[in-house]
Amino acid sequence: MLIKNIKLLVQTEKKPRLKVAGKEMKKLCCIKNAFLLIKGDKIFSFGKMSHLKKKKFKHEDEIDASGKLVFPCWCDSHTHIVYAESREQEFIDRINGMTYKEIAQRGGGILNSAKKMCEATKEELFSSAMKRINEIILQGTGAVEIKSGYGLSAEAEIKLLKAIKQIKKTTPIAVKATFLGAHAIPKTYSKEQYLSLIINEMLPQIAQNNLADYCDVFCEQNYFTKEETIKILSAANKFGLKGKVHAEQLSHSGGVEAGIKCNAVSVDHLEFVNGNDIKLMEKSKVMPTILPGAHFFLGLQNPPARKIIDSGLPLAIASDYNPGSSPSGNMNFMISLACIKHKLTPEEAINAATINSAYAMGLSKTHGSIAVGKQANVFITKKIPNYFFIPYSYANNLIETVIINGQKIDSSVL
Ligand code: NIG
Ligand code: FE
Repeated sequence: MLIKNIKLLVQTEKKPRLKVAGKEMKKLCCIKNAFLLIKGDKIFSFGKMSHLKKKKFKHEDEIDASGKLVFPCWCDSHTHIVYAESREQEFIDRINGMTYKEIAQRGGGILNSAKKMCEATKEELFSSAMKRINEIILQGTGAVEIKSGYGLSAEAEIKLLKAIKQIKKTTPIAVKATFLGAHAIPKTYSKEQYLSLIINEMLPQIAQNNLADYCDVFCEQNYFTKEETIKILSAANKFGLKGKVHAEQLSHSGGVEAGIKCNAVSVDHLEFVNGNDIKLMEKSKVMPTILPGAHFFLGLQNPPARKIIDSGLPLAIASDYNPGSSPSGNMNFMISLACIKHKLTPEEAINAATINSAYAMGLSKTHGSIAVGKQANVFITKKIPNYFFIPYSYANNLIETVIINGQKIDSSVL
């Protein structure tokens, strides 16, 4: 497939990088008046139109992208997209003054989702999640991480992870699965009993059956402490599962420290991150990740995103798509929020939602940029003036065509 006359080809890499950090995040390589050549499911070559050797190739499919921009698809490294039911009543309750914490304490929140999860079949979970997957593909997402964590029993967590496995086999986009048994403590167990269940029963079964790529913990007051997070992630590491942490979202609870101690691939949320955490992150390979949707939807305090980047660290953006704290997986909107609420420049936000979020799910060698040999997951915009129009024109749909693995996505068959 040849995409020609591209007004601007965004996020190109001659020498592919695994991630970008600090000042480098302000740079975004682009080619004006460009072509992109796709062979099979991979990017074959790209460059200026004037360098396109026309006669050399026979193109089965040619797209004229005059006036349009081409981007690598977004990578969404943090979602809970498999769930049984939405939770809009809690949204109303919060409008009427209740807090996320109060809703959780009366049995709402994650425990509410876990109750619904018990009653759902794997097939129901799969088909409702596939609708959301198809919706985010049309919004430009080409790789997604999906967490369990609404099961909270061995049986239900495994059912959920099996639904994720089925999604992996069905959808053309890349999927990574994360075991988040430590998302909340079910009412029927003491903390000690539930920890033992996670470590001694769930983890071994999940690892043996290859149901997860990562293990995550909600490190937070009334959920799991720093020490418990370390215990769970260390056990997961022994099973070959790398860690991720829901860290410092509602209070400073030590999630960043725990994650770094266990070589976590990412620490996510970060509203309550402090200077010491930033110093620790500087000495690690962890990907600090902000979730602007959850931040926006719950009205939380700002994570120090500027401080993180300005101290030389990388930063990723993900959607956190879930029924409680971020009922949208629209990465275009997450990028707008990152610019508007967290003062990222458009270049930083685009780097954060492509190459850095690919890193946060172990995919930056194959996803997250326009580079020769990478997966041909790209989207073509409508006619727009420049790339900063994406965050500027917030909540508008600017994507016209999505190409996954070299194939044009036909929205009518999704
Ligand atoms: O990432 N913070 C913990 N977990 C989810 C929210 C889960 C829920 O409310 O259902 C999050 O925000
Ligand atoms: Fe989350």
